[in-house]
Amino acid sequence: MSQNIAVLPGDGAGPEVAAAARAALEAAAARFGLSLSFAEHPFGGAAIDACGNPLPDATLEACRAADAIILGAVGGPKWGTGTVRPEAGLLRLRQELNLFANLRPVKVHPALAAFSPLREERVRDVDILILRELTGGLYFGDKTRVRDTASDVCRYSRFEIIRAARVAFEAARQRRNHVTSIDKANVLETSRLWRETVTDLHARDYADVGLRHELVDSAAMKLITQPGDYDVVLTENLFGDILSDECSVLAGSIGLLGSASLGAGQNGLYEPIHGSAPDIAGQGIANPVGAITSAAMALHHSLGAPEAADALDGAIFAAIADGARTRDLGGTLGTQEMTAAVIDRLQKG
Ligand code: NAD
Ligand code: IPM
Ligand code: MN
Repeated sequence: MSQNIAVLPGDGAGPEVAAAARAALEAAAARFGLSLSFAEHPFGGAAIDACGNPLPDATLEACRAADAIILGAVGGPKWGTGTVRPEAGLLRLRQELNLFANLRPVKVHPALAAFSPLREERVRDVDILILRELTGGLYFGDKTRVRDTASDVCRYSRFEIIRAARVAFEAARQRRNHVTSIDKANVLETSRLWRETVTDLHARDYADVGLRHELVDSAAMKLITQPGDYDVVLTENLFGDILSDECSVLAGSIGLLGSASLGAGQNGLYEPIHGSAPDIAGQGIANPVGAITSAAMALHHSLGAPEAADALDGAIFAAIADGARTRDLGGTLGTQEMTAAVIDRLQKG
């Protein structure tokens, strides 16, 4: 029986990189004998233009029914920050599907270490997994606006912290067995609950895993100056959003990083961490590697095909090792050419 992939191209450069992710999945399916079927659905600004809603009911239902969701990116200057926003569709999709655990791996390809603005020896061995809590915190608390005053409530429950922290500790056991939990416990009550809850859970169920707590301001500095000190980084929604874009500097470009958003079931949402890149959209030059990396994560986490996932990751690695580069990495390849370079290695590998 074939597995259903919902494709949400979205806005700006989103459709360009979503097409790359889809092409990579099709190539992986051909090579590994998987049966995947794809259907595209309106989402984000494109859906606002079509029907006034960034997450139409039919798109949400298709996502619920899918085995995996591939997303390009949403948003852009056309829709600004008005009342009906493309980004609200993405937040609602994450919430409706209860995708509370966002995995954002940051690895530095040896051939790109010299490309980072940081000294090569600092970034060479970087291998960080950011576990960003995705359905709580400031993003989803009550919002008010009364005349010239606005507020966003930051709210976390022990339950929400525990389920995200479990994913981080379990992932650490498969890696270098260390979690750094990042918060702002010197100021925020939610962070004090976060730290207390992570500490209790660690003592109870994960005492074999190393744990360190850090404050987000100095952690933002240390992630750049001593990135090799981090294995799994566990943090709340807003801090994870900011720190993951920061960490893309270690890898060489934000266009390289992918993500998986997971809940309690198999179904997951897979998207690059970057946005719709309005400044380069429509030119066919966006780096597709973040989207293709996300496709590999879909093979691994939702489609029951870890071998295909490893082969696709290997193909990305080989293409970059062979010198394939989009413009953000100082090369000349367009989105489709870079995608073809990866698919070529996948077929040969
Ligand atoms: P952005 O990530 O879109 O772009 C930041 C910079 O990185 C730009 O210079 C862009 O050209 C570059 N960049 C991004 N992706 C790239 C790629 N694949 N290859 C090469 N260069 C790339 O961030 P922004 O400009 O702050 O946001 C633009 C819009 O995207 C906003 O509306 C924002 O809300 C939205 N956004 C959406 C998502 C998502 O859909 N998951 C994520 C982040 C931002
Ligand atoms: C991301 C994006 C989103 C977020 C926006 C577009 C809502 O920045 O996926 O990193 O803040 O979570
Ligand atoms: Mn972001």
